[in-house]
Amino acid sequence: MNILLFGKTGQVGWELQRSLAPLGNIIAVDVQSTEYCGDFSNPEGVAETVRRVKPDVIVNAAAHTAVDKAESEREFAQLLNATSVEAIAKEAEKINAWLVHYSTDYVFPGNGESPWLETDVTSPLNTYGETKLAGEIAVQQYCSKHLIFRTSWVYAGKGNNFAKTMLRLAKDREELSIINDQFGAPTGAELLADCTAHAITTALRKPEVAGLYHLVASGTTTWFDYANLVFAEAKIAGMVLAVNKINPVPTSAYPTPALRPQNSRLNTNKFQQSFGLTLPSWEIGVKRMLAELFASANA
Ligand SMILES: NC(=O)c1ccc[n+]([C@@H]2O[C@H](COP(=O)([O-])OP(=O)(O)OC[C@H]3O[C@@H](n4cnc5c(N)ncnc54)[C@H](OP(=O)(O)O)[C@@H]3O)[C@@H](O)[C@H]2O)c1
Repeated sequence: MNILLFGKTGQVGWELQRSLAPLGNIIAVDVQSTEYCGDFSNPEGVAETVRRVKPDVIVNAAAHTAVDKAESEREFAQLLNATSVEAIAKEAEKINAWLVHYSTDYVFPGNGESPWLETDVTSPLNTYGETKLAGEIAVQQYCSKHLIFRTSWVYAGKGNNFAKTMLRLAKDREELSIINDQFGAPTGAELLADCTAHAITTALRKPEVAGLYHLVASGTTTWFDYANLVFAEAKIAGMVLAVNKINPVPTSAYPTPALRPQNSRLNTNKFQQSFGLTLPSWEIGVKRMLAELFASANA
């Protein structure tokens, strides 16, 4: 089986290179690839890549993910998150390939307290959410064999993440103010990649699972509580932190160009039932990422 992976160097793309490896032959590309175009600012180029590779499965982890920047470069975000995705979806349909794509809880308005269902009405608060919604609609419209996974608050051990930022600040500052009125589930790129590999295997056997799913770790937290868990784990690991006062603050304390939803909870029942998986609590993945971080710091 040939698998074409777009966005191989992103948080999720990097983990997909690992998790998809046992499924078949992977052709992985990113924006810098030369043999095949992986640049989403070039819709014709990525469509040509699909035509040349003729994969059985396409997994798209590339995206314009700079949420605040998207407000000032709407057309570019649309090109990456929707136009190129549409071009890939049309080519995938022609060759009867599966297309796996990721979207976001930012397609929802973020009000209320209930976890969003796949069937809930979308209404994005910002440009990133609008362009991601356009991308998922294109996938649904043009490629029948699709899996779309809406996720949230993605972190990975590789590169920068919220926990690393909090630890850096907590080493330097005695007081920190952290948002406590946004609710969601930090979801590891590892978990997303492992679930994707399992879902592809299932889809190849049971094509009727094609569709849109919410996929996040279980449980709910806020950035404030998430940070507190990070600090507690750091102390257990013997790390010396300067911080001694942590203030819970509302979103309004940190105005940003893009509005953020307060309710990022996603209901994952459909995913768990369709694929026979149990999504672990968010703390398990975060503690694992932290343990690896502390171990590498001590190495
Ligand atoms: N991160 C989150 O919290 C989050 C939440 C909900 C949903 N998602 C979705 O999950 C998926 C994976 O996100 P992620 O967290 O892995 O994001 P990420 O780490 O930012 O990965 C996105 C990748 O796309 C690449 N990219 C940027 N411009 C490109 C272009 N012109 N052509 C091709 N690739 C380009 C980026 O490269 P550079 O790094 O070089 O720019 C990066 O490698 C995306 O669909 C995203 O919308 C993410």
